[in-house]
Amino acid sequence: MKILLVGSGGREHALAWKIKASRLCDRLYIAPGNVGMEALGELVPIAAGAVTELTHFAATQKIDFAVIGPEDPLALGLVDALAEKKIRAFGPTRSGAQLEADKTFAKKLMREARIPTAEGRCFSAVRDALAYVESRTEPLVVKAAGLARGKGVVVCRDPVAALDAVRNIMEKKVFGPAGAAVVIEERLEGPEVSLLALVDGHTAYLLEAARDHKRIGEHDTGPNTGGMGAYSCPDLLAEDLLKRAESEIIVPLLDALRRQEIDYRGVLYAGLMLTAGGPKTLEFNCRLGDPETQPLLMRLQSDLVEAMLACSEGKLDQITLQWRPEAAVCVVLASEGYGWKADPEVTRGVPIDGLEAAAALPDVQIFHGGTTRREGRIVTSGGRVLGVCAVGADVAAARRRAYAAVDKIHFAGMQLRRDIAQI
Ligand code: AMP
Ligand code: GLY
Repeated sequence: MKILLVGSGGREHALAWKIKASRLCDRLYIAPGNVGMEALGELVPIAAGAVTELTHFAATQKIDFAVIGPEDPLALGLVDALAEKKIRAFGPTRSGAQLEADKTFAKKLMREARIPTAEGRCFSAVRDALAYVESRTEPLVVKAAGLARGKGVVVCRDPVAALDAVRNIMEKKVFGPAGAAVVIEERLEGPEVSLLALVDGHTAYLLEAARDHKRIGEHDTGPNTGGMGAYSCPDLLAEDLLKRAESEIIVPLLDALRRQEIDYRGVLYAGLMLTAGGPKTLEFNCRLGDPETQPLLMRLQSDLVEAMLACSEGKLDQITLQWRPEAAVCVVLASEGYGWKADPEVTRGVPIDGLEAAAALPDVQIFHGGTTRREGRIVTSGGRVLGVCAVGADVAAARRRAYAAVDKIHFAGMQLRRDIAQI
């Protein structure tokens, strides 16, 4: 079958790697992809958010199945547009993608369905938001309600910081239009975990658990990023906790979506905090996590395309996924300025050395997130440049392999955390 993969990050490189390995894939197109994916499929120069062009391409090329990586095209209704042309796709429709694209919608749904989450309120007027902060004494978290590439959340030290956050998000629009409304919630404490499930409209199938590291700095310091590394291993979450998260969070959410007449198909990603009072939901995403997908897919033995097709066809009950019993670790190598500066100010165009030597190591895969070719050389082209991934018998062995590969790679200004998967 002819498959179109949409997106250009490390998640999409990992997806392309698994899709290419599927017995169902005859031909793979990737829009727009990046230089790291060239050997896996045909790169199509259409941006991930260009819904009309992507739909036209898929129709004229007679694409059998489209896999949508990032949230933006989902929120823009790419799956709806493809469905009108009778093209099957992996990912929710625009109404389902609201779960991620509109934190106000997600919060209301969680409240209705009595899903454990941080106590919070939604505001679209800056005055009301400021008044609410002034009336609170507990530590707060201020979130831009719209899509902000994983960066629209400010965990506040004190009430003054929360007031600043409201002004920055709603008045100065530091996260752009995503800050037209905010969600202000209590600050929770505890380890975080990403729980991902495949969903086919009625059934949910939990993927193995993964954990990402969101702060730019070691020991979880500095600003939040999209993720500086991740790992996945068997038994990351105890069985009883998984069961609890499934019955208290995933299942009630699917019921609530159905009550809203939303036929949700694709990935449901719950960002959880394991608090003293049990698992609580920080956010929902409507797609696979990046970088979590990278170590996760390194462990997946089953045919990914079969599973994604089953999602879109409502046949998830016919699928069982097999996972490698080992651990996988992904260390992100990021550009100078990533995490600290606004995206356009992050350094780009820097030549990268050592890619081949690193990729030649056993059980290592290097997924490209922000690279391009210039004058015959591979150079940086974005914030998160590479996801250096390795599999090992346990987390410690996978870490050693991943960092051995990292140590062969160099580019000027390279940022990384040395404490990924150090639990
Ligand atoms: P989100 O995009 O909502 O997952 O938030 C990004 C990150 O902010 C999370 O991974 C947490 O580290 C942190 N965060 C979000 N909400 C809360 C909360 N209510 N309490 C503490 N930390 C939070
Ligand atoms: N790694 C977090 C995310 O994909 O949102």
